Amino acid sequence: MKTHPLVKKILFNQEEIDKRTSELATEIESYYRQQNVKDNTVIIVGLLKGCVPFMANFIKHFNHECQTEYMVVSSYMGGTKTSGEPKINLDLNLSIKDKHVLIIEDIIDSGITLNYIKKYISFKGAKEVKIVTLLDKKEGRVVPIKSDWVGFEIANEFVIGYGLDYDERLRNLPYIAVCDVEKIENWKWK
Ligand code: IMP
Ligand code: MG
Repeated sequence: MKTHPLVKKILFNQEEIDKRTSELATEIESYYRQQNVKDNTVIIVGLLKGCVPFMANFIKHFNHECQTEYMVVSSYMGGTKTSGEPKINLDLNLSIKDKHVLIIEDIIDSGITLNYIKKYISFKGAKEVKIVTLLDKKEGRVVPIKSDWVGFEIANEFVIGYGLDYDERLRNLPYIAVCDVEKIENWKWK
């Protein structure tokens, strides 16, 4: 496999991601088996668009009744820095009243997005809101929010691939990599 020229370093390859994802799914489903889950159904809410590869993989391993739902929340305005206040661009269509909700996220950085969404979903009447994130940049935290399950902790670097984008690009890389941010600023996409 050829590595993309904007990659500085590959952090996790497909095999490592698959292995960790299946471990998480097993752990999380056994958690829910011990809870009194309403209708025996967990509502899995994926935060688009970054969650797509992780969520697709996760639900294949998640052996518990569930309904899937998505939200689009924007906080990064295309570049590599966060813009502050999140905005909901696609809201929930399923009722989550008294339900166990599991949010699926690609990465937590400042925590602003998840803090906002977690409160929002609780406010809508969920019985419990849990979070699973593939990546956690702990050092980037601006608001104190903890993910209940974490795939991998990473350093405070801009990463791409496996759903993570730079200006909506590079989500298709089958691995997670540190981006060469100096190179990308003047990159010609030809
Ligand atoms: P937070 O609100 O700062 O925690 O940011 C969360 C969102 O920012 C994530 O869902 C990602 O979409 C995006 N994000 C944070 N760090 C990175 C990164 O290193 N690469 C790509 N997207 C990122
Ligand atoms: Mg995201």
